[in-house]
Amino acid sequence: MESKLKLRTVWLGCVAALAVPLLHADNVPDLFLHDGVSLDGEWRSIIDPYETGYYNYRREAHDAAKEPSRAEAFFLDAKPADPGERIEYDFDTSPPLHVPGDWNTQRPELLYYEGTVWYRRTFDFAGLAGGQRAFVRFGAVNYRADVYLNGKKLGTHIGGFTPFTFEVTQLLRQGTNSLIVKVDNKRAREAVPTVNTDWWNYGGITRDVKLVSVPKVFISDHRLALESEATRAISGWVQIAGAGAGESVELSIPELGEKITARTDVSGRAAFHFTPAELQLWSPETPKLYEVRIECGGDAVAERIGFRTVRTQGKKILLNGRPVFLRGICIHEEFPLLGGGRVKSAGQAKQLLLWAKELGCNFVRLAHYPHNEAMTRLADELGIMVWSEVPVYWTIDWTNSETYQNAQAQLSDNIARDANRASIIIWSLANETPVSEARTKFLSNLAARARSLDQTRLLSAAMEKHSDPVTPNVYVIQDPLADIVDIVAFNEYVGWYDGLADKCGKISWQIPYDKPVFVSEFGGDARQGYHGGKGQRWTEEFQEDLYLQTLPMLDKIDGLAGFSPWILVDFRSPRRVLPGIQDGFNRKGLISSEGVKKKAFAVLQEYYRKHGGSP
Ligand code: GCU
Repeated sequence: MESKLKLRTVWLGCVAALAVPLLHADNVPDLFLHDGVSLDGEWRSIIDPYETGYYNYRREAHDAAKEPSRAEAFFLDAKPADPGERIEYDFDTSPPLHVPGDWNTQRPELLYYEGTVWYRRTFDFAGLAGGQRAFVRFGAVNYRADVYLNGKKLGTHIGGFTPFTFEVTQLLRQGTNSLIVKVDNKRAREAVPTVNTDWWNYGGITRDVKLVSVPKVFISDHRLALESEATRAISGWVQIAGAGAGESVELSIPELGEKITARTDVSGRAAFHFTPAELQLWSPETPKLYEVRIECGGDAVAERIGFRTVRTQGKKILLNGRPVFLRGICIHEEFPLLGGGRVKSAGQAKQLLLWAKELGCNFVRLAHYPHNEAMTRLADELGIMVWSEVPVYWTIDWTNSETYQNAQAQLSDNIARDANRASIIIWSLANETPVSEARTKFLSNLAARARSLDQTRLLSAAMEKHSDPVTPNVYVIQDPLADIVDIVAFNEYVGWYDGLADKCGKISWQIPYDKPVFVSEFGGDARQGYHGGKGQRWTEEFQEDLYLQTLPMLDKIDGLAGFSPWILVDFRSPRRVLPGIQDGFNRKGLISSEGVKKKAFAVLQEYYRKHGGSP
């Protein structure tokens, strides 16, 4: 016991921390910051539950065939060459689906659909200038995407919540091009997430798509972070694709009068280290962002970046060296209004964050997967700290090495995408995973991976509580994972899945770690507008009372550094079938699926107002 209780300071920020260049797991640049041609809008679509356009009747993949069948291989986007030719599909006369967007909320027959949908987008292209390279970038596609351009396969991407890019330089045509994506959101035991989740398995091309042309030598990635709030030194690097040693790279922060030039090393990376005068640090109270510009040869990118440090000291979380309490709420990437479904725009993302601000939050847990870029960039702007998570959720196939590689790729891509977001202070590795040797090995490998990619943030995971029959009202957090992560976080549902609200008053906690404690979920369902006694489950009064009794219970936790109740808004879940109450929705939101606040919203708002939160 002694060793665990020794005072621990985890220092998170030094030059070496930024050593690892971060390209996508498949080593292709992100290109989010590069201008491009948007390919959003109406795509033609074919629903293909039997994957007829992908496999022949012998279940052999058409795209593996030497001469794929024009008649059946949908990715060829073929048209009859003569009146007699048999072509058994036609994108031109197939119904549209909007991109970005899930397919489930676009057509009633697709609400529950899980399987393959083919998307096709044609676009005209004037041609690449000499030496230029071209890429198509997808913000996210759930779950498996097989991508083709002009009848040729670009590649396959697995994972529904992180961006991917394919190079198309050789395949792009002057004139009309045909971009086709076979999207398959079928659930699978070995997948991440696995077959069982408490959220809707929205399928489709759910985030933006664009075509980007870049010079032969271009800026493929960069990373900047504050080394320490004391020295105010900033360090980082810029990765140049297509460059060897000696390429000149200029980094400037005009507002700070900073303009620095560095040369690339043999791997095409230029390192930067400088100490600007008058640097204002990013925090929820003052979410200061600076325009950072990077130029190299004929290429240039710019983005707004905030500088802050985050670390733990014993049971405290220190932001810029000062203790901070995380006034949080959990959010799913779903917008309740305008037909519902996955968040489709920065405007919808902003509304969710503004509701969180109205609650008095300075923190959001983006559950249970990486949300779209707009969300984390808006959190930077609005001064909201973020918990970002990968969908290692419930009972993953721990011993399957492909499952591990998949989870690691999603984690790496999440970190690569959002490495410069000041708002993100915590990478979460998992949610409610059953303790076992295989699970802990899986997660400790993920933790090691995250630490190798980023030492400027904290690690955590939503763990579970338990109690022994001898002392049923003493809840214990005892999990080998807690030794690995920086913040001991757990979900608790005392008063909902575990007794009634008045049980809260009887509970005490045993959390034997000298680390900050965070309650990553609590709450209960209420159908907005359904009223009754506080003992009447599903009523607003029951939920309100549950919050009123839970908050004092949490206040008793030694080392409590914050919490994020489950959840801001009611959300779709196929697990929630109670007629007249759930109707396909998890109703634990403080705001209904019609955007109407429930009584418990005011309870939490009042608590946060007392704890420094002003809407
Ligand atoms: C779990 C889980 C959530 C789920 C919630 C609930 O703890 O993490 O994804 O929606 O509880 O049961 O409502």
